[in-house]
Amino acid sequence: MATSKQLTISVFSGAGMSAESGISTFRDSNGLWENYRIEEVATPQAWAKDPDLVTAFYNARRKNVLAAEPNEAHQAIAALESFADVQVITQNIDDLHERAGSSNILHLHGQIRMAKSSGPNQEKAYYPIEGWELTEKDLCPDGYRLRPHVVWFGEAVPAYEDAAMMLSKSDVLIVIGTSLQVYPAAGLIHFAEKARTKFIIDPKADELDVPTSFEKVNTMASEGMQQIMEWLKKR
Ligand code: APR
Repeated sequence: MATSKQLTISVFSGAGMSAESGISTFRDSNGLWENYRIEEVATPQAWAKDPDLVTAFYNARRKNVLAAEPNEAHQAIAALESFADVQVITQNIDDLHERAGSSNILHLHGQIRMAKSSGPNQEKAYYPIEGWELTEKDLCPDGYRLRPHVVWFGEAVPAYEDAAMMLSKSDVLIVIGTSLQVYPAAGLIHFAEKARTKFIIDPKADELDVPTSFEKVNTMASEGMQQIMEWLKKR
């Protein structure tokens, strides 16, 4: 039977969470969007125009994720479960929170190791991808080509309402490794109205646009999580 703990912590993570695992962020210098054009690889129009190019882009991302390991920050977040109810809401499509041992993870932008139909009814079923490669021969039962299970620019974020609900219940919010540039995801931090304490961990935290109620931890994810663990232990 699931037990309920007295403290509820929400973690809202972005690409910087996995940077120390060797996965590129999007908007840092030499980030993914400096080397690829969003319109060519991450929109429904891109898929309609050149599904092979889009598939190749995500195959490369998947290969990278499969070779990566969770870092100390992922592990620290999993360890929070020893004393708190923890909900991870991630914009990341990698599975490093899962592999670190977190139990409750909501993927706002999909999961790179899963595929879905490119036809109608895309959210009907998700199919695990064996290994790193999705090809033009991989089809859904209705005969449509499989596409990566990721939310592209211009697409709805089906898990948004659930995420907002979870955040509204948290006592502590930890935002980590996100530039908060992409909506609607970035707006979710405003749902944590009940949270007594809110942290944002990011080496560029000082430059990020968050309400003054946030405590800025200007470090990388692993160092920042270490500081927060110590803070939590004292309380
Ligand atoms: N630890 C913590 N934060 C870091 C680290 C690190 N080691 N390295 C970089 N960062 C920070 C950067 O300073 C930046 O603020 O991580 C943030 C990464 O921002 P983005 O690259 O914009 O990534 P993210 O916010 O997750 O992007 C949101 O955009 O393209 C889409 O769908 C994609 O989910 C993604 C969304």
